Amino acid sequence: LSVVVLISGSGSNLRALLEATENPLFGAKIVAVGSDNAADGLAHAEQFGVPTFVVSPGSFDTRENWANVLLANINHFKPDLVVLAGFMRILPGNFVSALSPNLINTHPSLLPAFPGAHAVRDALAAGAQVSGVTIHVVDEGVDTGPHIAQASVPVLADDSEYDLHERIKVVERELLIATVKDIANKKIHLPSLAK
Ligand code: GRF
Repeated sequence: LSVVVLISGSGSNLRALLEATENPLFGAKIVAVGSDNAADGLAHAEQFGVPTFVVSPGSFDTRENWANVLLANINHFKPDLVVLAGFMRILPGNFVSALSPNLINTHPSLLPAFPGAHAVRDALAAGAQVSGVTIHVVDEGVDTGPHIAQASVPVLADDSEYDLHERIKVVERELLIATVKDIANKKIHLPSLAK
């Protein structure tokens, strides 16, 4: 299974996937890593000899034009699956429909609770006792696509946003690796989820 991963930040999820896919028995290979900016996480791809590309929204007059160039970069690598791992941009309908259902996202909350860009902060602000991570098929909405996998994570009384997010990320990395592996070995069939 050829995979393109899109990131915007530190890429700890990406790094975990790069390490996991090093094992030839894993069944998936990361063929490229893309970003909307010169993200620190791109260094992980470089260390593993994986090609990278940056398509910055600032260089385009519309979101659609930006997304079309991002899509062209992705399609150059002919992936079977695109994974959003800390990609902090909303993707327009033309992009999503071109890739669906082979486009998945990992989100640091138990959706439908706390969608959007500040899930961990929102869970703390709401006094949630439990949060977690959701891996889902990306549809035209924000964090609204069909769920593939979820795992819960306890919230501790004195958690900072950083503390909780780091605790979530430990579980998130494992769930993402397991999910990509199950998609690679066809234990998970994305088209059945997406209809
Ligand atoms: C992840 O928790 C992801 O779910 C969220 O942002 C974080 C990215 O972390 N959208 P990293 O870049 O993989 O370290």
